[in-house]
Amino acid sequence: MSNQKIRRIGVLTGGGDAPGLNPAIRAVVYRAADEGIEVAGIYDGWEGLLDGYAERTWALDVQTVRTWDRDGGTNLGSSRTNPFKHGSGPSRRDRSGEVLRNIEHLGLDGLVAIGGEDTLGVARKLADAGAPVVGIPKTIDKDLSATDYTLGFDTSVRTVAEIVERSRTPAGSHHWVQVVEVMGRHAGHLAFWSGLAGGAYLILIPEHPFDFERVKALLDDRLSVYPSDRRYPRYAVIVVAEGAVAKGGKEITVDGDKDEFGHTRLGGIGGWLAEKIRTETVHDARSVALGHPQRGGPPSPVDRHMGWLFGNAAVEAILRRAWGKMVSARGVAPACDISLVSMSDAVAKLNLVDVDRYYDTERYAPRRHVLD
Ligand code: F6P
Repeated sequence: MSNQKIRRIGVLTGGGDAPGLNPAIRAVVYRAADEGIEVAGIYDGWEGLLDGYAERTWALDVQTVRTWDRDGGTNLGSSRTNPFKHGSGPSRRDRSGEVLRNIEHLGLDGLVAIGGEDTLGVARKLADAGAPVVGIPKTIDKDLSATDYTLGFDTSVRTVAEIVERSRTPAGSHHWVQVVEVMGRHAGHLAFWSGLAGGAYLILIPEHPFDFERVKALLDDRLSVYPSDRRYPRYAVIVVAEGAVAKGGKEITVDGDKDEFGHTRLGGIGGWLAEKIRTETVHDARSVALGHPQRGGPPSPVDRHMGWLFGNAAVEAILRRAWGKMVSARGVAPACDISLVSMSDAVAKLNLVDVDRYYDTERYAPRRHVLD
């Protein structure tokens, strides 16, 4: 372990933006200032460390970031750049060497990478190649392993839950089925917990392929038993995760394009389902895909708390030269323990909804058995 003092560190945010990133950057800067460490903000994720970009950085001091706890998104900008597989088609190439060199040229004794499986996957590979990198978990999808919390999740749950709840009045007034399509990629956490909080009747998650005949039967149970008795509901809200699949079907994507991490953009299952309900049942249906605004807006108190804890811990990880480690939470603030885990463990496999524990596979809704 080198005894050389840590004088200057970098911080970057990669992948989809999320509320909680700016509070985490702010905490990194505050804690670094206490240690007499300068912080360089790297623009636009890993792109900001490629040749042609790396000469522009943002010197972040306490006065600059003082109010960033209030800000959604990321003031440093983000990208889905993968330096190991940069570009597309025949021009795709490995530019990770540039990143390694630029970390040195910028005089960074440490680098905090804030991101999800893609950003931290790159961070892990760079750490394996000798770069002084630590990670902070972020994603509204909450699909990283080895941590109970990823920045952005709580705010997104609140935003989506509010829309699910708001969907109940138009659907109730007009007697239709409202399908709400929610992000989360291959994980159903956001759909499940926001659907529960917003009072959705059915929640369809990627972890359990749904049977359309069952959806139909459940809708009939709710809507067709006492159609003229006003005490009974004449609407239903279905939350469907963008990665949910009908039995025997496959994921619906926006187009066939893949990003530098090999991901296609998911989307369209909500429209598909509403159309099927309209044409194959007696019920009317509407659909809305919430899209990117569900990642937007100011961070919730929990995202500010977790951003604070994660940001401080990341600087401590750098002081310990814990390269290749990610800060991790067991529990969520105010009852949580922060520790360091290996980034490899965080990205080794996706953290998915525990169906046996939480999901009623007959009702397509939260389980009603909690203690067993
Ligand atoms: O990972 C966050 C996320 O919002 C996913 O839920 C979603 O599938 C994806 O990003 C959308 O990607 P993009 O922001 O590139 O449209």
